[in-house]
Amino acid sequence: MPNRLGLPNLGLGLGLRSQHFDHILKKSPEVDWFEVISENFMDSHGKPRYILKQIAEKYPVVMHGVSMSIGSTDPLNFEYLKSLKALAGEVKPAWISDHLCWTGVLTTNSHDLLPLPLNEESLKYVCDRINQVQDYLERPLIVENPSTYAAFKNSTIPEWEFLKIMTEETGCGLLLDVNNVYVSSFNNDFDPVTYINGLPHDKIVQMHLAGHQNCGNYIIDTHDREVNTQVWKLFQMTYQLASEASILLEWDGNIPAFDVYHTELLKSKKYMDPTFNEVANEIQYSDQEQVSNPLNVVSLELTGDSEY
Ligand SMILES: [Fe+2]
Repeated sequence: MPNRLGLPNLGLGLGLRSQHFDHILKKSPEVDWFEVISENFMDSHGKPRYILKQIAEKYPVVMHGVSMSIGSTDPLNFEYLKSLKALAGEVKPAWISDHLCWTGVLTTNSHDLLPLPLNEESLKYVCDRINQVQDYLERPLIVENPSTYAAFKNSTIPEWEFLKIMTEETGCGLLLDVNNVYVSSFNNDFDPVTYINGLPHDKIVQMHLAGHQNCGNYIIDTHDREVNTQVWKLFQMTYQLASEASILLEWDGNIPAFDVYHTELLKSKKYMDPTFNEVANEIQYSDQEQVSNPLNVVSLELTGDSEY
């Protein structure tokens, strides 16, 4: 079954975070590979890029972007792609990934991964842009499913079908974020198992895991804590279908000490075993936790609690 565009299984990886640079350089921890946020290094020719080059000499590295804006109505940004390609030339990543989303319009970067309507028109549009990017980068693009908080009335294609056709039309690969599937399924009321089953499993090159915050009637994809048990269970099921995909744990807020981060990643070994059984914890949530969340603003307006 494994195809993965012929790309290697790198094993279990961690996101490269500046808080851990010293530890990694001094201790050379036994991590299989690192994923770097491309934009953190593309325009830096100083110390961060020097450190990245040292790490890339010791470990396999993958470049993960957040600003390609493949779904935007803006023209593709070839200055951005030029910087991306130049960094790839230095770092020699195993692959380059970004998200099925748009991040801005009229040259303004929102620094958010925004959803797009999923229909025949957007599918053709996105496939055309992926083909242009792949031609320019001279390699397949690996595309990640985003976490979403709303759906469009003019969406006519389920996301998993959209991704499947996209891989067929362009030859791109998939970065399946299992946590994002869980978050989106909760927020948009679809079955995550139907989503996973509907994907082209042989095109899943990589998987993401991450922690989220359950706020009761919606989930925010916070990447600031351990992986939820429900997400581990979904990963366990998914791994049986897309085994030999490379696994990566994302952690972007409240970043813990390196060993804590690594220990959480290594839990994935348990869930790779289909017979492993752990009683699912009750989902933890709190209305008291403060999160940066535009929905809070909306609810204030709706309930009339706002003073404005
Ligand atoms: Fe992700």
